[in-house]
Amino acid sequence: MPKSTQATSSRSTSLHGTITVPGDKSVSHRALMLSSQAIGRTEIYGLLEGEDVLHTAAALRAMGVGIEKRDKVWIVDGVGVGGLSAPSEVLDMGNSGTGARLMMGLVAPYEFPVTFDGDASLRKRPMGRVIIPLEKMGVVITSAEGGKLPLTVQGGDNLVPICYELPVASAQVKSCVLLAGLNIPGKTTVIEPEPTRDHTERMLRYLGAEVVVEEQVLGTGFSEDALQPVRESCSLQITLTGQPELRARNIEVPGDPSSAAFPIVAALIVPGSEITVRNVLINSLRTGLYTTLIEMGADIAFSNRRELAGEEVADITARHSKLKGITVPAERAPSMIDEYPILAVAASFAEGTTTMLGLKELRVKESDRLSAIADGLKVCGVKAEAGEDSLVVDGNPSSIIHHPSSIRTHLDHRIAMSFLVLGLAAENPVTVDDIAMIATSFPGFVDLMRGLGAVIRFQEKVSGFKKNVLKPVPETSSFIIAIDGPAASGKGTVARRIAERLGAVYLDTGKIYRAVGVKLMQSSYDIGEAEDHASLAARHAIEISKTLKIDEIQHLELDNESVGMAASIVSAIPGVRAALLDFQRAVVASKQGAVLDGRDIGSVVCPDADVKFYITASLEARAKRRFNQLKSQTESVIYGDVLQNLRERDARDKTRKAAPLQAAEDAIRIDTTDLNMDEVFDKMWNVIQGSGRWSVVGGQ
Ligand code: DC
Repeated sequence: MPKSTQATSSRSTSLHGTITVPGDKSVSHRALMLSSQAIGRTEIYGLLEGEDVLHTAAALRAMGVGIEKRDKVWIVDGVGVGGLSAPSEVLDMGNSGTGARLMMGLVAPYEFPVTFDGDASLRKRPMGRVIIPLEKMGVVITSAEGGKLPLTVQGGDNLVPICYELPVASAQVKSCVLLAGLNIPGKTTVIEPEPTRDHTERMLRYLGAEVVVEEQVLGTGFSEDALQPVRESCSLQITLTGQPELRARNIEVPGDPSSAAFPIVAALIVPGSEITVRNVLINSLRTGLYTTLIEMGADIAFSNRRELAGEEVADITARHSKLKGITVPAERAPSMIDEYPILAVAASFAEGTTTMLGLKELRVKESDRLSAIADGLKVCGVKAEAGEDSLVVDGNPSSIIHHPSSIRTHLDHRIAMSFLVLGLAAENPVTVDDIAMIATSFPGFVDLMRGLGAVIRFQEKVSGFKKNVLKPVPETSSFIIAIDGPAASGKGTVARRIAERLGAVYLDTGKIYRAVGVKLMQSSYDIGEAEDHASLAARHAIEISKTLKIDEIQHLELDNESVGMAASIVSAIPGVRAALLDFQRAVVASKQGAVLDGRDIGSVVCPDADVKFYITASLEARAKRRFNQLKSQTESVIYGDVLQNLRERDARDKTRKAAPLQAAEDAIRIDTTDLNMDEVFDKMWNVIQGSGRWSVVGGQ
């Protein structure tokens, strides 16, 4: 992991666009766990591929569940309830409290022992809350240090279903008990003092389990308006009938409402903005933030409501709004516990005081989040006061003085994202000390925000960073980075550097087309009429694809302008493209990791690439670069010719019928007109890191 990468956000003009955000983490964990308990094959779409969820996948795999990613879909071959096998290793849950507590429930009934462990911070977190009910069921739990990881759970034949009243509302504890009850005959009941996230119950039902929920409403109920407010006070009794036969059904994971909160609040506070986030989970136990923002006067609309895998989803549109301060009741905290950092940012731009109550839980999150928010706001010049379990923010949209500010995130991803959002509407830039953790919940956050118009820049802080080596996370056995763009956009230089840093093979696909162009030139035809000799060119391409060795490609001396033009001409011939397509794909398939650059890599050659870039620059900037480069090699070069040459190639590459130059829909665009190659590299490197598909190892 890099020591730290800083990022700075600055006042942005209006944000616009329609986006989707990564899948919901809670639903992602459950999708893997519960599909593993179904009989048959499940396809999971939109799984959040953050570290936490990947640990859950690895743990299930260690117990015999077939889990594999194909293209963008995760395929789970379920083993049925009771079908897990003993793992040969300790299950490492990384930093994931949800993963650890839920998996402990899932495996607790088995007669073989299973040992759970986690990283240093998870080892500090209390597990007593789940140990107590599991022991009541008859599970034997041994832990080295007073109820903390590493610990071993072991069930057996004599387990009994229990009726367990949660001492404190906790979805993790509830889910742990229900998941244990899944593999114990009889009815397991959990009584919760107030409703907590019910994703486990919903997905269990979706897969065919019998889950009965009896509700005792003690306070105010639901309203009928656009979004149901959170139930104010009621207790629930949830009963699961054990050992059901779960049927595999495909699961589409909805977007995480906690992630959607960041672009949405950004749109609310940046004047002139309007954005839509599609496919967001709107389970009423998760949308306390939206209820709160609407009460504050936010212009937020929900459309296209529908159900996905037992969960309600909608598209959410947010427009810049005049917000006012309110009091957020303590009862609402469970439904928005992760959202207080970003709510506090919204509150900073609201007229008047916002008082947030019932926040004790925030002191035991990944960091002391409550202090981190209050301290950060103060640094930015916002009046904020954290109490024992409350936060008061005095907002003032008109006279707020935000200083250029440097925020300590304490490695808390939500603090990092929240303050970057604040910077988008503040008078002065806001720098956060580390954004590496953002990938745990929101891979691609910065690029997505930039796509909406946000101004966010990166800076690497640690000098040794560049020596680090990225390697694929265990779940990705191979990876592909696709880089497309017009001639002389600078893509080759950065592609080579990225491949070097990743320890991957680099394939300059333009070189292969150049090789075909040269061959055609040598066969004495007038290259300007190559279209008339399509079959000959295609034959050359086939021959080249059979004889050319990948290691040789990079050493071919084919850089001159006439060869570039010849390549552009032959590359418009469909037969040439077809021959070289197979060649390029064979190269990719034979390597563990590859970085390819060209014109159609993201769109045709590798449409499933892990990360795609589209690197471009103005025609003049590219012509200047190419001119300077040629000038250093030969005297007789005329700028006007270079410009005209590029213009002609651009036009042909973009308008040809076969695989024209175009940005893949999901490519990250980078305009290099005003950037040097270091800056381009840094941007791309940050995207690669932020994509969540790699972990960083090695280096200092
Ligand atoms: O990247 P380059 O300048 O070396 O490419 C030379 C020509 O080859 C370019 O003008 C179009 C063609 N080409 C292509 O059509 N598809 C690719 N993937 C790469 C290059």
